[in-house]
Amino acid sequence: MSPFHVTRTLPEDATDAALRADVHRGLTGRPKTLPPKWFYDAHGSDLFEKITELPEYYPTRAEREILLARAGDIAAATRARTLVELGSGSSEKTRHLIDALTDLRTYVPVDVSGSALSQAGQALAAERPGLDVHALIADFTGELTLPDTQGPRLVAFLGGTIGNLLPAERAAFLASVRALLAPGDALLLGTDLVKDEEVLVRAYDDGAGVTAAFNKNVLTVINRELGADFDPAAFDHVALWDAGHEWIEMRLRSRTAQTVKVPALGLAVDFAAGEEMRTEVSAKFRQEGVRTELSAAGLELAHWWTDDAGRFALSLSVAR
Ligand code: SAH
Ligand code: TRP
Repeated sequence: MSPFHVTRTLPEDATDAALRADVHRGLTGRPKTLPPKWFYDAHGSDLFEKITELPEYYPTRAEREILLARAGDIAAATRARTLVELGSGSSEKTRHLIDALTDLRTYVPVDVSGSALSQAGQALAAERPGLDVHALIADFTGELTLPDTQGPRLVAFLGGTIGNLLPAERAAFLASVRALLAPGDALLLGTDLVKDEEVLVRAYDDGAGVTAAFNKNVLTVINRELGADFDPAAFDHVALWDAGHEWIEMRLRSRTAQTVKVPALGLAVDFAAGEEMRTEVSAKFRQEGVRTELSAAGLELAHWWTDDAGRFALSLSVAR
């Protein structure tokens, strides 16, 4: 068994304060919104794993196909000794990369979900003798302090999670990733691509209702953490394609006129019948847009790989 450490850079009460601030801002704004990072409690992380196996949800399979085909190229191009993965979740696809990175000493999975991290991290440390696994419970949109490990460093951000940030948040995020890298270090970025609207909408509104349950899980988190009385059955899951922004937008639509109490915030929130609250966007990309956003952050696009069907892209960019 190799070394396995978990460091929490988010104190428990900081999580609580951030949740309160986010929910207060979101429920008193017009239109109402709820912040996506709160989807991922232990149940939310389990539901997300189920989403990745749905027939309609192609991104995970497409990205795995690219990783399997290109892991050797990524290893040769980066010679990474440290792999940092942001929003690592189950680290399931990352195994293919870890297998190929022959110089790898340290793997640093970073996630807000402590349950996903400890499951994935412990399994990896047990399976890979000699690999130092240093898990970090942290918010990747905040300032990250990484363990002091050997370069070259490769940061991976997979699953199309970058699409869950709004454009201004993406620019700030990419700049902070660049700050974690020395010149010559690399970023491996997974981006879902613009495609047929019907295929996109189905990926976020599956027949079995798993995505609907995942979306509504944020209400359960708020009920548990802030004593609110959201009735998940009183909201419908909505997924629509916004062609102007080129993103999928997830919403929760109130089925009736209702008032929800959030005692920890001293709020009583009125919903009109049919009122929609935005919970998450999932932006879809084109190569030129990705190149431009990377470049603005000081990262040079070096490789662009897609799956055979051209649905999803992995890009490797190098810090200037
Ligand atoms: N990389 C995995 C999981 C993607 S789901 C895959 O490709 O399948 C997104 C992951 O990011 C979840 O594990 C979630 O807990 C984590 N996450 C979401 N917002 C986060 C944030 N602000 N900081 C850190 N982790 C976050
Ligand atoms: N990163 C994933 C994506 O945008 C997250 C995700 C998948 C998601 N399905 C979802 C977020 C449904 C909210 C609701 O593809």
